[in-house]
Amino acid sequence: MSEKKKVILDVDTGSDDAIALCAALLCEELDVLGICTVGGNVEVKNTTDNTLRVVECCGRPQVGVYRGAALPLASTLEPWSLQAQELPRKEGGRDQETAVHTDHLPLPPTTLHAQEKSACVFLIETLLAAQDGEITLVPVGPMTNIALAIRADERILPKIRQIVMMGGSHDVYPRTQASEFNVWADPEAVEIVLQSGVPVTMVSLDATSHACLDRHQAALLREIDSAPARLCAELVEHRLKASAAEGDTDGTGVGAAIHDALAVCAVLHPEVLTETVQTSCHVDLGHGYAYGETVLGRNYKFSEMPKNCLYAKSADSGLFFDWLYGVLQAAKRQG
Ligand code: BDR
Ligand code: CA
Repeated sequence: MSEKKKVILDVDTGSDDAIALCAALLCEELDVLGICTVGGNVEVKNTTDNTLRVVECCGRPQVGVYRGAALPLASTLEPWSLQAQELPRKEGGRDQETAVHTDHLPLPPTTLHAQEKSACVFLIETLLAAQDGEITLVPVGPMTNIALAIRADERILPKIRQIVMMGGSHDVYPRTQASEFNVWADPEAVEIVLQSGVPVTMVSLDATSHACLDRHQAALLREIDSAPARLCAELVEHRLKASAAEGDTDGTGVGAAIHDALAVCAVLHPEVLTETVQTSCHVDLGHGYAYGETVLGRNYKFSEMPKNCLYAKSADSGLFFDWLYGVLQAAKRQG
């Protein structure tokens, strides 16, 4: 078997983050060096606790979880307030039945604890100790931790093989005005990453709107009959219920998009991303209507800019599901 790919995940767990985590932690071909957390879908205390719960559910307590940024780089915006605002409210906070991301995942409280080190320090120390091009970063939440690490110590840059991020949108209408949630939550951070010179693959909302799972596929996952597969099945069903309650703001029409797991899949199987284009990409930081929009190179000015991003517009939904199913099934076989 070829050498495992070394990855660091950066998550705001989150229902689809949890499925991405299960896949990454259980996938034989990945070596998860650590998991950073960030405030996003829910507050960072909850994204950290939820991440620890998933790590325990997957039986991987040796993988360290590092608590990261609570808030974005340049504003006091609370990203989780968007999720809460949009949802039907019940007294005392978000509706835990129809919220796409609930404060707590449907898992028992965990005995695991986050590491003492912050996510930013972990990123810097781990990357500095690595060979050039050794580590792939997979951020599937706001990009704050990675931008902080880049700003704090640029010597980490050559150590990063690539950044495979879930974020951005072009054709699919995002939940916010002009910007996909992860970019909306910290636009400045994404721009820092895009300008860093590290190769970036952008697994956009356009692509993840093809990474949808339906009830039938959820049932197949449940039949695998392991704790992580049952969790994934339950979360897919929950996302289906939540997107129906929201009037399908994922823009998918059918099924529930499992955005973050597609980014993990793409690390190992880049062919799951289809209609890719190597292009210049920048985040609009103008504080107007397009604040946080990912702007792809289209006009003459952009044609002179470095093509800093592999932008994915679509995805192979069959390949995506087969991969996820295969990972969970193989993990169950190996006990
Ligand atoms: C992204 O936003 C979050 O709500 C999801 O976890 C995903 O990372 C999709 O826009
Ligand atoms: Ca996420």
